[in-house]
Amino acid sequence: MDRIRIVGGQRLNGTIPISGAKNATLPLMIASLLTADTLVLENVPRLADVRLLQHILGNHGVDVMIAGKRPGEPDNAGQTLHISAKNIVDTTAPYDLVSRMRASFWVIAPLVARMGEARVSMPGGCAIGTRPVDLLIMALEQLGAEIEIDGGYVVARARKGLRGGAIKFPKVTVSGTHVAVMAAALANGTTVIDNAACEPEIGDVADCLNKMGARISGAGTPRIVIEGVAKLNGARHAVLPDRIETGTYAMAVAMTGGDVLLQNTRPELLQAGLDVLVEAGVGITPTNEGIRVSRNGSALRPVAVTTQPFPGFPTDLQAQLMALMTRARGTSHITETIFENRFMHVQELARLGARIHLDGERATIEGVEKLKGAPVMATDLRASVSLVIAALAAEGETMVNRVYHLDRGFERLEAKLGACGAVIERISG
Ligand code: EPU
Repeated sequence: MDRIRIVGGQRLNGTIPISGAKNATLPLMIASLLTADTLVLENVPRLADVRLLQHILGNHGVDVMIAGKRPGEPDNAGQTLHISAKNIVDTTAPYDLVSRMRASFWVIAPLVARMGEARVSMPGGCAIGTRPVDLLIMALEQLGAEIEIDGGYVVARARKGLRGGAIKFPKVTVSGTHVAVMAAALANGTTVIDNAACEPEIGDVADCLNKMGARISGAGTPRIVIEGVAKLNGARHAVLPDRIETGTYAMAVAMTGGDVLLQNTRPELLQAGLDVLVEAGVGITPTNEGIRVSRNGSALRPVAVTTQPFPGFPTDLQAQLMALMTRARGTSHITETIFENRFMHVQELARLGARIHLDGERATIEGVEKLKGAPVMATDLRASVSLVIAALAAEGETMVNRVYHLDRGFERLEAKLGACGAVIERISG
């Protein structure tokens, strides 16, 4: 199993190219099931989750072709995927695949919308909480699907096709909104989704679906209206920049000090995150090319932050902010409201010398003078990268174990940080 070795204490200076967003790529790949034509996705990040989803879609008969690098194209350019779901050979998504990646449960929506049936394993719990799928099922039922739970599988049927309906989510859910939008795109009639998630990835998927011939308006707001169409076509779409990768590297620079341009990204994708960094004393300058992040000498100020659905502070940056605040001058408070158990990084940060007290959904972080390197590991992607951030500022060597979590969501992490001066290497085996 690979590990990452980091020797802390170097400032970061230079340029970090930001990849396409993992959490837009996954639903976009799944949306390819809605059409018999080819969907071309550009700016797709090279991630373990993308490869796994490719394998999962292959099980349904989807053909994915990865275009080669064009002459003169830089190594860090995203890949282009040609995805064809011309022949869907199987409408079952088995447990051994769905349990490896929760988002693959979302295939239920395009499969039932296009094929009239889907049999998809319930994903089960995961490291960051119970994560039920009740609201996804509710949305499909509102669109006329008949749902049965059978042997750990959700079986959805709509022999005569789905019909438009009213879906009001009792809480904001990204997965529920993706499923509702994809299913409604091919339903007969108009669907109105209220209290929809406003995350930029929802807007990106809706943009792509509209290029495929869907009629979706209001994506990115709490009310989305979808006029169903009988058929969708192929399209070409470039994945939007990864706002969580952007915020993660912004926090890494804030942690070590230095001056880095985060290239190919946009501030409006993570304004709440950038506002918190400014409050902490970090320099944030939007440029034509991306976002410049700098901290030179000044101490980090403590902050009080609560995670919220977009446009609030994202839960996917909570662990990274906590790592950063371990070095602030004073006491910070972070409240996690999206997932009930997303604090696994706390005990590992403590191994590096952090002082964090947990009380239910609230963490109190007392800034310390210095962190000291140690072997650490984490059980999810964002928690793992928070340990990398802490390690970059810790004295001596930190060994981050279970690197496969990082590989799920961060493309060439050690190369991107290494190019800016971090002492970081992957140790294979
Ligand atoms: N929820 C329910 N019932 C449901 C669905 C969700 O109670 O049927 C609850 C969840 O348990 C959670 C809350 O609603 O407490 C929000 O869940 P949501 O559906 O919004 O999350 P998700 O779609 O499963 C996506 C991202 C997560 C990110 C969350 C929140 C992808 C592939 N995943 O998950 O990303 O944390 O939205 O923004 O888009 C990550 O990338 O590391 C990651 C975990």
